[in-house]
Amino acid sequence: MSAHASPLFEPVVLGSLSLPSRLVMAPMTRNFSPNGVPTDQVVEYYRRRAAEGVGLIITEGTTVDHCAANGYPDVPRFHGEDALAGWKKVVDAVHAAGGKFAPQLWHVGNVRRLGTGPDGSVPGYGPMEKRKDDKLLVHAMTREDIQDVVNAFAQAAKDAKAIGCDAVELHGAHGYLIDQFFWEGTNKRDDEYGGSMEKRGRFAVEIIRAVRAAVGPDFPIIFRFSQWKQQDYNARLAPTPELLEQFLKPLSEAGVDIFHCSQRRYWEPEFEGSQLNLAGWTRNITGKPCITVGSVGLDSEFLEYMVKTDKVAETANIDDLLQRLNNKEFDLVAIGRVLIVDPAWPSKLREGRFDEVLPYSREALKQLA
Ligand code: FNR
Repeated sequence: MSAHASPLFEPVVLGSLSLPSRLVMAPMTRNFSPNGVPTDQVVEYYRRRAAEGVGLIITEGTTVDHCAANGYPDVPRFHGEDALAGWKKVVDAVHAAGGKFAPQLWHVGNVRRLGTGPDGSVPGYGPMEKRKDDKLLVHAMTREDIQDVVNAFAQAAKDAKAIGCDAVELHGAHGYLIDQFFWEGTNKRDDEYGGSMEKRGRFAVEIIRAVRAAVGPDFPIIFRFSQWKQQDYNARLAPTPELLEQFLKPLSEAGVDIFHCSQRRYWEPEFEGSQLNLAGWTRNITGKPCITVGSVGLDSEFLEYMVKTDKVAETANIDDLLQRLNNKEFDLVAIGRVLIVDPAWPSKLREGRFDEVLPYSREALKQLA
């Protein structure tokens, strides 16, 4: 099957979200926004990927307005006039290039690191406190903390709509705050936010409902989740289809429009006895459109291809992906690392110019180009 004849590059309408193609840019932290404000370089970085055929740009995680939301240097904020003015330029540039745009709204929770307060110092408030020996003490969030964070997500989503974004993505994956509630490995609460799957999901449900109330019925809400955690790559949030259903149903009913199902390798079957991946299961359970992700264009055969120019191996991977898309296992395909290295990857795939694809290298993370 050739990529240019594939629905991957055709427009698609998913509820209230119309996209020029089914290719999505995966959210990737880049640390190039000093003082939390996206620069003109950030504008050009996203614009270029949209111009090359990415239908939906999902931004790097951008923090909601809560004192402990950020954990890393030079991560963009999604609050404050300066940061929102920076994002407005990105939105306009992506739209001018024909793409659609969704910020990924983020709170890192207890993954927060030392020295990352708003002024570069360690904060002495919020869910973290500094001890005399410079260690951070983490306390379980109070009901007031929870309400503050719910409100912060809702405000960010409202602001996203106001500056012309086409959707928002809520970062519920990879062991950050929302996921810290989901996962038994981090949720030690014995109140209404801890214990059963339903109770562990309650924080996310409250955020989704608040976001829905803030943006109205027709503004798309994308929700990203994962089995794996940065604290434990082998973690399984929902080890059986039944538990996955218990996990997803309340989120879906609370108002999620699209699920972004984060896997490290998209081709891995989620449960025994079926070839379906996480997106496939999620689509079947919820009936909602799903995004798949994970090493598209980056599997070991592909890397080998890069070295030996063995086109057969590469084409097999893309063929498998397109086959699954045709089989409606998922609706959209997100790509991450290939896009950091090679902004023109979508065009090269569409035009079959495999020999021009740039090889992946971690060196590429050092600059924003
Ligand atoms: C990521 N990823 C990620 N995920 C997320 O939800 N929010 C984020 O801010 C980031 N940041 C980030 C930075 C960098 C440098 C990388 C490489 C990855 C995960 C990313 O969205 C994606 O799920 C994985 O990279 C797998 O897709 P690829 O890269 O194999 O196509």
